[in-house]
Amino acid sequence: MTQKIALVTGAARGIGLATAKLFLREGWKVAMVDRDQAELEQVAVGLEGTKAFTCDVSVPKAVDQLFKDVLEHFGQIDALVNNAGVADFGPIEDTDFSRWRTVMETNLDGVFLMTQAATPALKETKGAVVNIASISGLRASTLRVAYGTSKAAVIHLTKQHAAELGEYGIRANCVCPGPVRTKLAMAVHSPEIIAAYHDAIPLNRYGSEAEIGEVIVFLCSEKASYVTGQIIASDGGFESTGVGLPALRD
Ligand SMILES: NC(=O)c1ccc[n+]([C@@H]2O[C@H](COP(=O)([O-])OP(=O)(O)OC[C@H]3O[C@@H](n4cnc5c(N)ncnc54)[C@H](O)[C@@H]3O)[C@@H](O)[C@H]2O)c1
Repeated sequence: MTQKIALVTGAARGIGLATAKLFLREGWKVAMVDRDQAELEQVAVGLEGTKAFTCDVSVPKAVDQLFKDVLEHFGQIDALVNNAGVADFGPIEDTDFSRWRTVMETNLDGVFLMTQAATPALKETKGAVVNIASISGLRASTLRVAYGTSKAAVIHLTKQHAAELGEYGIRANCVCPGPVRTKLAMAVHSPEIIAAYHDAIPLNRYGSEAEIGEVIVFLCSEKASYVTGQIIASDGGFESTGVGLPALRD
């Protein structure tokens, strides 16, 4: 089997780190990318088959340099996982332009820049892109004017990727996680939000990082070779239902 290379952004912790480990389990090598150099290097050092690359995915020049460095080290890229993301929840009236831009820079601009820069390498391998959005991009809710809008845009951007890059044999899909107890989520999920999510999720619990990562790795694999342009929620059933009202539970 030819050695495959995945590039995972936001790989220093949370869903990105879990995804990197799952790629390793499947025999891939992984370029682990994050802007948090200290945390990234600390985790990557113990993971054979990985190399850490410090990069802020929202900075065009840094992204261009990243691809030079990754290709120099690994020689090819078979899958790009645009997972790096930030969350900032707040009412519309409190979301000033700088808060809005901070969310958009990473969550939307980063996905655009990374995929554009990866395209020449992905053409060579007929590779795959998986963008990480959120259930907040599928259903609008309070406090998510910037976050939810950025994720809805990522969902559409994925379809643009699939439409345009398909002729090169590049597949592009999107995973929408439900709530997972990562640092990102715990910073914005109050005890009330956690309880409300449990009520609204048919499986009645948060997901794990690996439960999201498994879907990502599948979409990057040959098993998904005819799947592109798809938006897949890994969310315990949240998006598909409205039956989770507390009054309707036993
Ligand atoms: N945890 C959840 O409940 C949840 C739910 C839905 C969607 N998501 C999405 O899943 C993805 C991963 O989230 P997580 O919960 O694992 O978060 P996390 O905060 O644990 O990890 C995110 C990582 O991304 C890195 N990062 C942030 N901005 C970056 C940038 N500009 N350049 C490079 N690295 C950057 C951070 O340093 C961090 O290591 C995000 O896109 C998030 O929006 C998470």
